[in-house]
Amino acid sequence: MRRGSVAQLVAIGIVCGGGATLVALLVPWLPSPASRQAGRIDFVFWFVTAISIAIFALVAAVIIYAVVKFRARPDEDADGPPIHGHTGLEIAWTAVPAALVTSISIVSAVVLAQNDHIPHASAAGNPDPLTPLVVDVTGQQFAWSFKYPGFGNLTSGTLKLPLRKTVELRITSLDVTHSFWVPEFGQKQDAVPGSVNKLAITPDKRGIFPVICTELCGLGHAVMRSTADVMPSKDFLAWAKGQQTKTGGPAATSGKALFTSNGCSSCHTFKPAGATAKIGPDLDKLQQEAQRAGQPLDQFIRQSIVDPNAYIEPGFQKNIMPGTFASLPKAQLDALVAFLSAGAKK
Ligand code: CUA
Repeated sequence: MRRGSVAQLVAIGIVCGGGATLVALLVPWLPSPASRQAGRIDFVFWFVTAISIAIFALVAAVIIYAVVKFRARPDEDADGPPIHGHTGLEIAWTAVPAALVTSISIVSAVVLAQNDHIPHASAAGNPDPLTPLVVDVTGQQFAWSFKYPGFGNLTSGTLKLPLRKTVELRITSLDVTHSFWVPEFGQKQDAVPGSVNKLAITPDKRGIFPVICTELCGLGHAVMRSTADVMPSKDFLAWAKGQQTKTGGPAATSGKALFTSNGCSSCHTFKPAGATAKIGPDLDKLQQEAQRAGQPLDQFIRQSIVDPNAYIEPGFQKNIMPGTFASLPKAQLDALVAFLSAGAKK
C-alpha cells in the first residue's frame, strides 16, 4: 500500500472518530453519577465507548476509502484481480477483537463485584450504626416507604441517606412488581412481593434525587415517586433522632405521618395532609361520600381503608386501591381514621 493511501485512510479515520467522540461527549447520555457504584458504571460506559469509537473510526475509514477509490467506472466491466487469504490480517482481526471483548468482560465483572459488596461491621464490634445502614424499601400501589430497622423501625416517605456511607437497601413489594430506580445512583432493582432484593448504594454527592418506579405497575405508576435526600452523616443522625422522639418510637401513631408513609397522598387529595393526587376519590369530600354510602363517617372511613371494594365512589373503579391496609396495626388504623375524620369535618 502506498504511503499516500495510508495517510488518506488515517485522515478519514480521524474525522470519523472525531465526529463520534463529539456525539459521545456533547450529548448528556447519562445523568452525572451521585454514588460510588454509579461512578464505576460510568467508567465501564466510557471504557466501552472508547473501544467502540476506535473500531467505528477504523471500519468507517476503510469503507469510505474503498467506496471512493475502488468505485467501478461506467465503462469498466472486467473482474477485479483474484485475492487469496492473508494469514497476518486474519490473525489480527480475530485476536484484537477477542482481546477487546475479554477486557470488557473483566472490567465489567470487577465493577459488578465491587458494586455488590456491602461492608459489614467488624467482628471486633464496630459501634458505627451506619456500617452498613440497612433500609427496608417497600413498594406498593402507588408509593414507596422506607424503614430504618437500626433506628427503631423509623419509617419515612422519603429516602434519607448519609453521605459516603454504604447503605443496604432491602427491597420488597406489598402487591405487584415495582422497580426501584434513582437515575443518579446508576442502578435499578425490582421490588417483588414475597421476596427481598438487595441493592448497595454509597452516595457520594449531597442533594435531592428522584426515586422512580420503573416497572409498569398500574394506574398510578407514573406518580409512584419519592425523593432520595443525601446529607452528611451527622445531619442524618440528627434527623433520625429527631424523628424517633417526635413519633414516639416504632409505633408511629401520628395520623398525618401515617397518611404519608402509607402512600395515601400519592393517590388522594386531602388538604390537611397537603395531598393533591387524583387517582382515588377526593378525601376532602369524605362526608358526602359517607352519605352516599349510607354510613356513619368513621365507620365508612375504616371500612374503606380495610375493605376498599365494599363501596366504590361513582366515577372510580374497583380493585385500584390495594387491600393490603387491612394488615395495619390497630393503633395505626385508629390514628388514620381519626386524622381523616377530623380533617373531613373541617
Ligand atoms: Cu410501581 Cu410502577
